[in-house]
Amino acid sequence: MVPDDLRPLASAAELATWRPGRPIRVLETVDSTNCEARRLAERGAAEGTVVIADAQTGGRGRMGRSWVSPPGVNLYLSLVLRPKLTPRHAPQLTLLASLAVAEALESCFGLDAAVKWPNDVLLGGKKVAGLLGEIAATMAGIEYIVMGIGLNLNMSAAQFPERPLYAATSVAIEKGEPVPRLPVAIRLLELLDDYYRLFLKEGFAPIRSRWERRCPMLGGFVELDGGSGAVSGEALGIDADGALLLRLGDGRVERVLSGDIVAFQAPGDPSPRPR
Ligand code: BTN
Repeated sequence: MVPDDLRPLASAAELATWRPGRPIRVLETVDSTNCEARRLAERGAAEGTVVIADAQTGGRGRMGRSWVSPPGVNLYLSLVLRPKLTPRHAPQLTLLASLAVAEALESCFGLDAAVKWPNDVLLGGKKVAGLLGEIAATMAGIEYIVMGIGLNLNMSAAQFPERPLYAATSVAIEKGEPVPRLPVAIRLLELLDDYYRLFLKEGFAPIRSRWERRCPMLGGFVELDGGSGAVSGEALGIDADGALLLRLGDGRVERVLSGDIVAFQAPGDPSPRPR
């Protein structure tokens, strides 16, 4: 088996850019790294605090789903952020984190990873990572955001649910061999740090343009489920808040704030469009 120990992360010495004073907690087993990060944030944990676990017993996904989190194979991590933003800007940080995950996969393995609005990273059209951003806010603004990242690195086909809700994969399945977790965790934390600094300095615009370049669905026809029901149209891009811009059949452009893309037709594909 490839070297697989995540504990060296706790020293932070491995990280080129991670700023001091930002603790990285490496746990063997936890209910959910998002839950643990929220508990720490409630007790005043500093911006940049990271919780990473070898296994989760109650890994959580979006929309009340669970996130399969067996030991020793994947990355499960959560980051505490305290940006001075209004809650409506919080989705920008999920897009930032998905961009960092996609770039970490390219940088570590040369894989062409794509982002999918609002919170997925895909390899060959299958989901390899999911993001779960949870926000605590008051009238005064965001108190903290916990950004949870689940990245399937070495999960085997047999470890995925028998009846998956969507097509899913892992890096090992795509590459045909196991991969070490530590260098990916290090690269991912570096990219998260780089992009978060860029975001604080220059706002969402540079993140948005990078994210859009990594999203093969833009210009294509998508069907969405959730939020305010089913809706379909041409995916034009994301707006300054991180909402998906969709050109509907009647030409109107709608801002979609939440939902899942359930069908996609690439630009120029002549086959019949999804319903
Ligand atoms: C999704 O795609 O539905 C989001 C999945 C998010 C999973 C990660 S794993 C680390 C963190 N802890 C959790 O319980 N969930 C997130």
